[in-house]
Amino acid sequence: MGKLQFVTTADGSKTLLHPTTGEHYHSMNGAVGESQHVFLESGLKFFLRHHPVNPVTILEVGFGTGLNFLLSAQFCQDERLGLQYTGIESNPLSPEIVGQSGYDEYVSKKTWDLFISGYEPAIQREMRFPNNILLEIVLQNASGYNSAKQFDILYFDAFSAGSQPEMWTEQVLSQVCRHLKVGGLFVTYAMNGNLKRNIKALGFSPEKIPGASGKREMLRATKMDSHSPWNR
Ligand SMILES: C[S@@+](CC[C@H](N)C(=O)[O-])C[C@H]1O[C@@H](n2cnc3c(N)ncnc32)[C@H](O)[C@@H]1O
Repeated sequence: MGKLQFVTTADGSKTLLHPTTGEHYHSMNGAVGESQHVFLESGLKFFLRHHPVNPVTILEVGFGTGLNFLLSAQFCQDERLGLQYTGIESNPLSPEIVGQSGYDEYVSKKTWDLFISGYEPAIQREMRFPNNILLEIVLQNASGYNSAKQFDILYFDAFSAGSQPEMWTEQVLSQVCRHLKVGGLFVTYAMNGNLKRNIKALGFSPEKIPGASGKREMLRATKMDSHSPWNR
């Protein structure tokens, strides 16, 4: 297998290129732009406007470089909000690779230093940072994730259905979505009929909304009460 390498995307931020699948970890139209649009703006900030919770709890499928955590942690620090973040990752990156992302440009030095010093320990146990920020990286295949924890928001950031179709099946979506609270929000960069059908079958109210640069649409979905008309 070749080596993972960083490449520069259209907004100047970097992403990783997977050597065997040829998949990028983020959109080539802008890695940071995509993360900000899909997960921060359409996910975290949207959720908080409707449910001003503190702390906010986030589950991410596909932790990778930690970009979505970094931007979320920076936002929560700026807003003086607590954050409890769990990232599931089946193929963790080495601290050396994570340190070469260049994402320090997009967060404060304090946030970056905390992340870099806490990344490896967070793989062994929950890491508590100042300002009530907690990070846990769970090393396993998301299809077997089973926890007593319930989350407000689910960032679904698996590789595309073209290279990882199994991740987008009702079965895997059901396994991860059962960790979302009723009223919780599911966001992902992708949108297609199959995904919409699968998420609807799991009792979500799906919305097709504008996607990040270069993508017409993305999916945001709210988990409905089991008595909701959406489930009939
Ligand atoms: C599109 S990249 C995500 C990028 C990541 N969120 C970031 O900002 O760097 C997909 C990630 O999902 C991980 N992954 C792939 N299959 C997985 C699985 N079955 N369970 C958990 N993680 C998986 C990959 O190793 C990769 O890190």
